[in-house]
Amino acid sequence: MTGVFVTLEGPEGAGKSTNLAYIAAALRAAGCEPLLTREPGGTPIAEQIRGLLLAHHDEPMDDDAELLLVFAARAQHLNRVIRPALATGRVVISDRFTDATYAYQGGGRGIDLTRIAALEHWTQGDLRPDLTLVLDVPVEVGMTRARARSALDRFESEQQSFFEAVRSSYLSRAELAPERYVIVDASADLDQVQQRLQPFIDQVLERWRG
Ligand code: TMP
Repeated sequence: MTGVFVTLEGPEGAGKSTNLAYIAAALRAAGCEPLLTREPGGTPIAEQIRGLLLAHHDEPMDDDAELLLVFAARAQHLNRVIRPALATGRVVISDRFTDATYAYQGGGRGIDLTRIAALEHWTQGDLRPDLTLVLDVPVEVGMTRARARSALDRFESEQQSFFEAVRSSYLSRAELAPERYVIVDASADLDQVQQRLQPFIDQVLERWRG
């Protein structure tokens, strides 16, 4: 039995949390109880690594250290939570996954993508998400929303150029593999965005029903 591995991506302030709750409710209404999780995080150890990654430190974090911490958390999460749930046939929805590494550490930090691909292969083997929703918003819209929410974490405190690179990495990866990615313009109001999510929800259910 293999479940359906779904990931949700997008730059800061794209509305992932709100839309994730909406998607989960729609799946439940159709009789499908998804496992909701997130990265970095998803297990107690991986959540501790998340704390390290998001916190501000007096000592600047080395880019390679950041990349390796992201994958350390991912190994823990995949092997303790994601793989076991998929093995029982569940729909697993992760709020961010390896596309975020390509976007933030690759696009944002400028780390060579072949290094990320090597770690991806090491940690995941052949496992890739079945479907990925990219919520897209212009950088200024997303940052205005993120600033209104709470104190900015270490990533949210980056410059505009960092987020432009994150956004364009997401979009170019998604355009290269349209069979896996659905891009939704999340700058519209919530009702409109949620209407646009329906085809994606239908695809998740279709795969789950096999
Ligand atoms: P979020 O809860 O807003 O998604 O915060 C997670 C932050 O971690 C976000 O700024 C993106 C960042 N991140 C990476 O830099 N690389 C990764 O691989 C993942 C999963 C997240």
